[in-house]
Amino acid sequence: MTWSPSSWQDAPIKQQPTWPDAGAYEAALKQIASMPPLVFAGEARSLQNSLARVAAGNAFLLQAGDCAESFEEFSADNIREKLRVILQMAIVLTYSMGVPVVKVGRMAGQFAKPRSSDTEVIGDLELPSFRGHIVNDPAPTAAARIPDPDRLVSAYHQSASTLNLLRAFTKGGFAALDRVHAWNQEFVSSSPEGRRYDQLAAEIDRALRFMGAIGMDTESDANLREVDVWTSHEALLLGYEEALTRRDSTTGNWYDCSAHMLWIGERTRDLDGAHIEFLRGVSNPIGCKVGPSMTGEEVIALCDAVNPAMVPGRLTLITRMGADRIEDGLRPLLRAVRESGHPVVWACDPMHGNTFTADSGRKTRHFDAVVAEIEGFVRAHRAEGTWPGGIHVELTGENVTECLGGSDAIDDLDDRYETICDPRLNARQSLDLAFRTAELIRG
Ligand code: PEP
Ligand code: CO
Repeated sequence: MTWSPSSWQDAPIKQQPTWPDAGAYEAALKQIASMPPLVFAGEARSLQNSLARVAAGNAFLLQAGDCAESFEEFSADNIREKLRVILQMAIVLTYSMGVPVVKVGRMAGQFAKPRSSDTEVIGDLELPSFRGHIVNDPAPTAAARIPDPDRLVSAYHQSASTLNLLRAFTKGGFAALDRVHAWNQEFVSSSPEGRRYDQLAAEIDRALRFMGAIGMDTESDANLREVDVWTSHEALLLGYEEALTRRDSTTGNWYDCSAHMLWIGERTRDLDGAHIEFLRGVSNPIGCKVGPSMTGEEVIALCDAVNPAMVPGRLTLITRMGADRIEDGLRPLLRAVRESGHPVVWACDPMHGNTFTADSGRKTRHFDAVVAEIEGFVRAHRAEGTWPGGIHVELTGENVTECLGGSDAIDDLDDRYETICDPRLNARQSLDLAFRTAELIRG
């Protein structure tokens, strides 16, 4: 049962690239291990405390961002637009539900992708699969697909710059509540959900003026001027994660300082596998995807493996079963976990169980299926007397056409299909989803 940052190396592992030059790979990891941590252990503990409130039914989790961050689409604008949508969604959820919203980005480190197959066929070429910009390049040539360890170092640096800008925006005035109108982008404000958002923002303005009028200091109260947006990604490449795992001098505990929260994907959650072995030993709050094949026994074994002390906020179970399966599939799991006494956060990923390939050959999801999965998730929780604690979504602030439907009735995916991995909700669809989610949860 002894754990160390490298004990995962003795366990069977899935979904790792084959680095062609072992020496170059080791050198890249050594370089990363010598670099400063990206987050501080105390921050991970703050997030865990907030998630404990979600587990208790007194707060809601919004986890959102790219399927895979891109080295090419890396810019201040891109980060700002994504943050804007997350802030908009969070304010809609907070205002409509009356509970705090814990905001966690799939940002500043969400690069590595698990793949259902090691190779893919493009035209008449069979190529190694694209595994995220932290590993290789998606261009359809054999050379582009060779794993390059320099990309690990680039991913570290891009994560550091992204996190730096996130901190600046969230603490430096951009996220202040008196700017709630300014988060509405032009292409969003002209839509029905954008107009609905403007009404809500006007109500918040009125409340702020009221607070000022009765003598409250709305200019400097940190609750009105700053927000926390935490970072998270799938802890897939364990060499990279180990290189950023550091012992916290305050508590003596180990933290994976590549992000505040890490999760285990649907394809790597084997109980005796390397990913569970690694994450059970770090003290960050962690997540695990829960797909349609998961049984009550398996979910309890997972809880026991990664959270034997039953610490509230430590474990978030992220369900992704598909709109048709969620309600019936989830209920036995909710019952089993409730009876075990494990204090988990239940979050709904309404994206990954609803992906299909359209006639055009594009991978997509329909907005209605996304909403339907959240509906089923909420119904299951209502029936079992548990708290539907959050949503986990893939989105972007850009005006893309990757998911079908929504109030724009998107049907032409080719128009602006820009993702390097899974299809994301655009800013309008995301805002619409926040209103729908709040309504579903309020009942
Ligand atoms: C993801 O979240 O991008 C992902 C790959 O999900 P899952 O592990 O649930 O398939
Ligand atoms: Co994805």
